Amino acid sequence: MAYRTCVGVVLLSLVVLASSAVPKNPRKKPANPPPRPAAVDADRDAEITNSCPDDGFFADAEQCDKYYECRNGEIIEKLCPDGMVFNDYSPQEEKCDLPYNIDCSQRPKLQTPQPTLHCPRLHGYFSHEDPKECGKFYFCVDGKFNMITCPDGLVYNDKTGICTWPDEAKKKGCGAADVFQFDCPAVNETFGLTHPRYADPEDCQFFYVCINGNTPRRSGCKLGQAFDDVTKKCDWARKIPECADWYKGQLTDAELDALENPPTVKPKPSGSQPSRRKPQRPGKGKAVEHSAEQ
Ligand SMILES: *[C@@H]1O[C@H](CO)[C@@H](O)[C@H](O)[C@H]1NC(C)=O
Repeated sequence: MAYRTCVGVVLLSLVVLASSAVPKNPRKKPANPPPRPAAVDADRDAEITNSCPDDGFFADAEQCDKYYECRNGEIIEKLCPDGMVFNDYSPQEEKCDLPYNIDCSQRPKLQTPQPTLHCPRLHGYFSHEDPKECGKFYFCVDGKFNMITCPDGLVYNDKTGICTWPDEAKKKGCGAADVFQFDCPAVNETFGLTHPRYADPEDCQFFYVCINGNTPRRSGCKLGQAFDDVTKKCDWARKIPECADWYKGQLTDAELDALENPPTVKPKPSGSQPSRRKPQRPGKGKAVEHSAEQ
């Protein structure tokens, strides 16, 4: 379904932001991680030193943001920056990441947080303090925050650090009914399974998809287009009587002409620079559907 595809791109870019190089394959735990050097007595130190398995970097057994460097049998205790956790994918790599793709369930302890304004820890993604601000969150680097707003209709999901549909985020006070002023009309089960679509009564560019007939998700047509409630598809707004003037004041007729008939790119003679793409206009809604046909 195309309405998912484009939002998927938006989500993906956030995931990339969240963690630059997180391996997708299951991570191998070091066969013999060193025990936590909690005790400071000499016997225990000797035991730890002896247990350094190989040169490399090893996760602490209890604390997700603590790890050890083993160098020539010597063990050095280290801590990730506040908010990041040790990525134990490879003992050859000293790597801390945001926690979203790292399994900390077996070593759930963390260092004492160093909160700053809007940042409960120095690094990471954090929910907005106002629980009613469902689609806003903070991205913190070194304790400096940036407020980010999810694409229209999506809710920030604290558990995954990305924007998702309200019914997927399952955040209290941020359900589909809270985020959208739209109730899916009651339909029979057979029809519900077709995920029926309805025009957004407030905005020609947008429409609602009712998942299984009852869970609304807001989706949009691309700039210049509007949702046709008769065909249940996106089409050029000027072709849909009730939306013909929707872009008046936002786009000129010439701009609409250009959108409807995009200039074809002529093949360039070899040796010339690669053709530049037309810069995209920022639309009102960011999570817009890029294909009118399904
Ligand atoms: C379900 O609703 C659709 C659309 O209203 C209708 O066409 C269809 O006949 C209904 N099916 C049943 C089994 O009631």
